[in-house]
Amino acid sequence: MSVSVEKKIEELRNQILKHDYNYYVLAEPVISDENYDRLVKELEKLETENPHLITPDSPTQRVGKDLTKEFNPVKHKIPMLSLANSYDEQDLIDFDRRVKESLPESEKVEYVVELKIDGASVSINYVDGFLKTAATRGDGTVGEEVTNNIKTIRAVPLKIDLSKEKKYNLKNFEVRGEVYMRISDFDKLNEEREVNGEKLFANPRNSTAGTLKLQDPKIVSARKLNVFLYSLISVDEEFESQEENLKLLSKLGFTVNPKFKVCKSIEEVLKVCYKFEEIRDTLEYEIDGAVIKVNSMRQQKLLGSIAKSPRWAVAYKFKAKQAFTKLNEITWQVGRTGAITPVAELDPVKLAGSTISRATLHNFDEIQRKDIRVGDTVVIEKGGDVIPKVVSVVLSERPKKSQPTLPPEKCPVCSSKLFKPENEVAFYCENPECSAQIKGRLIHFASRGAMDIEGLGDALIDLFVDKEFITHFSDIYKLKDKRSDLIQIDRLGEKSIDNLLKSIEKSKSQPFSKVLFALGIRYVGAGAAQKITDHFNSIDDIIAAGEEEISAIYEIGPSISKSIKQFFSNKNNIKLIEELRKSGLTFTSEKKEIVQSALTGKTFVLTGTLSSLSRDEAGARITALGGKVTSSVSKNTDFVVAGEKAGSKLTKAESLNVMVLDENTFLKMLEENE
Ligand code: IVH
Repeated sequence: MSVSVEKKIEELRNQILKHDYNYYVLAEPVISDENYDRLVKELEKLETENPHLITPDSPTQRVGKDLTKEFNPVKHKIPMLSLANSYDEQDLIDFDRRVKESLPESEKVEYVVELKIDGASVSINYVDGFLKTAATRGDGTVGEEVTNNIKTIRAVPLKIDLSKEKKYNLKNFEVRGEVYMRISDFDKLNEEREVNGEKLFANPRNSTAGTLKLQDPKIVSARKLNVFLYSLISVDEEFESQEENLKLLSKLGFTVNPKFKVCKSIEEVLKVCYKFEEIRDTLEYEIDGAVIKVNSMRQQKLLGSIAKSPRWAVAYKFKAKQAFTKLNEITWQVGRTGAITPVAELDPVKLAGSTISRATLHNFDEIQRKDIRVGDTVVIEKGGDVIPKVVSVVLSERPKKSQPTLPPEKCPVCSSKLFKPENEVAFYCENPECSAQIKGRLIHFASRGAMDIEGLGDALIDLFVDKEFITHFSDIYKLKDKRSDLIQIDRLGEKSIDNLLKSIEKSKSQPFSKVLFALGIRYVGAGAAQKITDHFNSIDDIIAAGEEEISAIYEIGPSISKSIKQFFSNKNNIKLIEELRKSGLTFTSEKKEIVQSALTGKTFVLTGTLSSLSRDEAGARITALGGKVTSSVSKNTDFVVAGEKAGSKLTKAESLNVMVLDENTFLKMLEENE
C-alpha cells in the first residue's frame, strides 16, 4: 500500500472536518455543497478500496450501517437536572432575591443569560478525545442511548483535538446541550410527510425528539438535526464560571449559541430576556424562553439543588405565541369514551413554526363562557401542549348576523342520544357501539404505549371498521384468517397486509401491564396499569379483587378501583378477555425473581417528605427487595416510613402500634438488604 493513499485519506478527512466546522459551528461555509459532496465521495471511494484504513472518527462513519435494535438505558453519572420556570418580572426578581439570600452577604452575583432552545436534551460522553456514547435526558437519572443517531449530526465532533487545550484534564468528559431542528428543515420534513400521507409533526421539538428515537441512522441523517451545547462537565475538572465553560466548549469545536450574555444585575437580565423575546421570530430555530444561570461555579455549588432543579438557574418562559384567524365551523368529535369534544375549524394560519387549521374548544361550557360563534375572528394560542386552543373572540369583528353556538343534540356520528353526567362538563354519546367510539378504542388498543401494533394506525382502523372487518379488539387477532379478503382491498396489497399480520402476531408478546392499559378502562393510564400488574399476578386476581384491595395499592385511588370493578362487572368484557386470552395475549404478570430479604412480603406505607430520595424511588427500592407499598395504614401494615411533616398516617400507625421508621433507619434497612 502506498503511503500517499494514507496521506490523501488523512488530508480529505481534515478538509471535510474543517468544512463541517465552518458550516455547522461557525455558520460560514467556504465551499459549495457540490464541492463538499465531491470531497466526501472521494473519501468514501478511497476507504472502500482500503477498508483497513477506516477509523471510527472518519466523517464517513457518521452514518453506521446497522439499525439500532433497541435504545439501551444509560444511567447518567451526574443527573441531568431540569429547570424551574418563571414567567414574569416578579418571578425573576424573586429568583435573584433567593439566590442572594442563600449566599454570604459579601458575594457579588453575576448571571449568564442564554437562549432556551426548544428541542431535546442530550448528554455526549468523550473519552480520550473520542465520542463514546450519547444519551437522551430520560427522567434525568436514566436516559436512552442514542449514540448512532447523535453521530449523524455533523455539528457534533467525533473526535476532539485535545492538544488544543492543555489547561484542563479532559480525558473523560461530558457535554450537554439541546438537539434541535431548524424551522426550515422542519417545514420541509412535514411537506414530504404530507405528500407521503404520513402523520405530520406538531412542531420542531416533537420532530427532533421523534427523530432521535428512529432506529435507522440513515433516516436520522437525512433529517438534518443540529445541536447547541451549553455545558461541559467532568469529574476531574472544576471551572470558574459558566462563561468560561461556554468559551471552552467553543474552543474545543462544539457549537455554542453565540447570543448568551453575562449580566451584572437582575435588571440587566430582564432586559436581555425581553430582547430575546423580541428576536424570537427572527431566529432559524425555535426558542421557548431564556435560561438564567448564576455565572460563578463556586456560587452554584454553594446554592446546590432542590429536588430535580438547581437553585442557581431558572428558565424564563416566553408568553405563548398567539395568532388571529377566522372560525369557519365548529365540529364535534367523539372520543373512545363517547365524550364529545368541540373542535374549531379555522382558516389556516402560521403559529409557532407550524400551520394551524384546527384548535380545541375543550367543551360546550367553554364555548358558552367565551361566547364563541361560527364566523368569529378568534385568538388562538399554542402553549406548552401540542394542541392549540382558542383563547378569545375579537368582538369588534363579529359579523352582524352571527348566532350563539348551540350544544350538540345527538351524536354527530351515530345520531344516538347524548347524556351529561353530573359534575362533568362533557356530553357523551350513549351508544357504546358508535363507530367513532369503536375506532377510538381500537386506535388506543393498537397504539405504541399499548399493544404497539405497527401499521395499524387511524386510517387503517377507519377502513377496517367501516368495512366491518373489526368491531372488537378480539377481531384484530382473527384478521389472519381473512388474509385473502384483506389483500383485495384497494391500496393495501399483499406485502403491507403480511407486515401488518406479522406485527399483530408480535403484539401478543406485549407484557400484561400493556395489555391491561390497552383495554382502555377509564382512569387506568399506563402508570396505573403498571402498578396494578406489579401487585396482582393475573387478570383473574384483578377480576376477583375487591375495590378496597385495588385502592390499597400505592397511588391507586378509589376512582380507578371503582372503574376497574365496573369494567369487569360487564359480562361482555369478561367474554372479551376470554377471547383475547384464547388468541394468546398475556394476562399474567412476569414471574418476578423472588427476592429474599428482610423486606420480603412486608407492607410499607410512606408518609411525609423524605429528604434524600423521592417517594417513587423509595417505592421502587422496597418493591425490588420483595416488599409492597400501599397507600393507607391498617393493621396489616408492617412499617410506616415517616419523613418530614408526616401527618395523619403517622398518628394512625402509632394508634395501631405499627412500627414507624425514620428516614435514616429506613435507608439503613434498604442498604443492608440491597
Ligand atoms: S441548562 C441544570 N441551558 O431546557 C441546568 N437548558 O429544564 C439544566 N434547555 O430540557 C439545563 N436550552 O435541555 C439549559 N441554554 C440552556 C438550554 C436548556 C434549552 C433545555 C434543557 C432541558 C430544559 C430545562
